[in-house]
Amino acid sequence: MKLIKGMRIVLATHNPGKAPEIAALLGGNYEIVTAGELNLPEPAETETTFGGNAMLKARHAAALSGEVALADDSGLSVSALDGAPGIFSARWAGPGKDFAAAIAKVELRLEESGSEDRSAWFTSALAVAWPDGPCVVVEGRVDGQLVFPPRGDRGFGYDPIFVPAGESRTYSEMDRTEKEADSHRTRAFARLRAALID
Ligand code: IMP
Repeated sequence: MKLIKGMRIVLATHNPGKAPEIAALLGGNYEIVTAGELNLPEPAETETTFGGNAMLKARHAAALSGEVALADDSGLSVSALDGAPGIFSARWAGPGKDFAAAIAKVELRLEESGSEDRSAWFTSALAVAWPDGPCVVVEGRVDGQLVFPPRGDRGFGYDPIFVPAGESRTYSEMDRTEKEADSHRTRAFARLRAALID
């Protein structure tokens, strides 16, 4: 199964800001419409892995729209916390998307664990589903170290505490193009393009 230039792809998100970013990461050439624009309901994210949740969202949007759908799921995994917050990364910030609180929770859990290990990684899973069944899933990952207190004022989510391997600055201290030159999302999209675009 391939993505054909010019085809319409339903993006399984209700965040309109994601559409231009994902269109660019796919290399242009596609008409992107969001699940929100089509008024498709959002499914509950009931799977236990990033890939599972991406697949669930893509399949749901493809089945309801009758078109090819793309979904992503991403998050931060901390080694000393057995991979938490993982698929619960967004949920740790609560309905108010309070990432200062989510970061404080990571720090507290690390202190409680007694571990000195600050290694962590970001994962981005992408799934593309066709309405008649097939679904392709890929993942990109970037390893790094957590630092406290948080540093920098750019980016989003857990960026202020994550220093990617080989760097001394957090993602929040880098500008967006520097971060996205080799982020988990960039790596996942490279794999997706290799798998699905000729
Ligand atoms: P999703 O929208 O369900 O995939 O949730 C992703 C969550 O993981 C976001 O809300 C962020 O908390 C976190 N996350 C994913 N990618 C990044 C990143 O590049 N920087 C910081 N946080 C991220």
